[in-house]
Amino acid sequence: MRLGSQIACMRPYVLLVASVAALGGLLFGYDTGVISGAILFITKDFELPARLQAFTISVVLVGCMLGALVAGSVADRVGRRATLLIAGVIFLAGAAVSALAPTEPVLLAGRFIVGIGIGFSSVVAPLYISEVAPAPSRGALVSLYQFAITVGILAAYLVDYAFAQSGAWRWMLGLAVVPSLVLVGGMFLMPESPRYLFKVGDAARARDELERIYDDPVASAGEESSILESLRVKSSGFEAFADPAVRRALFVGVTLAILQQVTGINTVIYYGPQIFQMAGIASNTGSILAQTLVGTVNCGMTLVAIFFVDRVGRKPLLYAGLGGMFVALEALAFAFAHPRLSGSLGSIALSSMMLYVGCYAFSLGPIVWILISEIFPLRVRGLGMSLATLANWVGNFLVSQFFLTMVNGLGRPLTFSIYGALCIVTVLFVRSNVPETKRELLERIRVST
Ligand code: BGC
Repeated sequence: MRLGSQIACMRPYVLLVASVAALGGLLFGYDTGVISGAILFITKDFELPARLQAFTISVVLVGCMLGALVAGSVADRVGRRATLLIAGVIFLAGAAVSALAPTEPVLLAGRFIVGIGIGFSSVVAPLYISEVAPAPSRGALVSLYQFAITVGILAAYLVDYAFAQSGAWRWMLGLAVVPSLVLVGGMFLMPESPRYLFKVGDAARARDELERIYDDPVASAGEESSILESLRVKSSGFEAFADPAVRRALFVGVTLAILQQVTGINTVIYYGPQIFQMAGIASNTGSILAQTLVGTVNCGMTLVAIFFVDRVGRKPLLYAGLGGMFVALEALAFAFAHPRLSGSLGSIALSSMMLYVGCYAFSLGPIVWILISEIFPLRVRGLGMSLATLANWVGNFLVSQFFLTMVNGLGRPLTFSIYGALCIVTVLFVRSNVPETKRELLERIRVST
């Protein structure tokens, strides 16, 4: 597929549908990022002891796990569009409760609700986008979702920075109301996924949708026949896992989702300022500013994936990104092996962190979401994505809970070397287990058993 036809498939209509759904990613990024700045002031206002402070940060991840667990079945039952609408309403409620919380328990409840919203959207937004995307630009369109996550994270850093003087944590948490309203309003106007419509037997509407997506009767007829073919197999829900091919897809999806986390990205996203301080940036302002640079690199480098993922393919980008992450983590470990990070060692540490985030942003970040939204057969796609995404949140929870313990127990060099080694494990896993899915019709994708 050449550039011309790829861009032709990125029709404004499809781009609009994907962009509205990607707002779920924006809220995901914003709501996970914003707490790092807000917590300082919440701790002061509610006079929180250390234990409650940590729980105020992590309760959102507990909500994410619950949301991810149920979202797939909801999406298989009420549809992708309605599930994204529900996610928007949950985000709205969570942001309002958190921002207006009169006491710590209410704030915890609000953050838990926000977590459920994130869990929902992390399953259904990439799922919906991959199902409305034409095959030649599916990778780029799902990457848009990852791009929105990174914009959300960056926006959270900037909002935290802007309100840091006044300590207005209620505004920091409450501003999420704005994108939530746009998501709810937008999803009202968006179409249902044609695949879901075929699945529930509404072939006429499904066909209309396919024609609007492709604007080409031959291409949409091709998609239709591959979707109908895939629906001939009747088993769905948990009984579908009796099929070895579905079990294999689950194994690949869950492992990829865990590997995305255990290679350490959220140590930098959540604990960036602390790592920068370890690397010799003493002032708070300096380390927060460096963190903003991390956010910008994360955002900017995701564009590389949008541009290349449907041209060079998923696997080459993964190899390149993981290779860069490995080098960056080992360089970071080398720098931290010295007792003081003065002079060039400090610069090595800082540039390694940027290299690490930049390489993640064009590879493991977007491509894991792309692959887990592609590899499950339609009849079990919602459930499969739920389980893989749940694994992603469990990995996220474990890494973020134990990072500081690892640093204290094993030391910084060994901690970062372990993340580096896991990048190599990921390369090997991708090489032998992951199919190349670029430009393949969604229903033709098979994970070999
Ligand atoms: C991951 C998040 C991470 C973000 C960073 C996402 O793909 O799932 O855990 O914080 O990327 O950009």
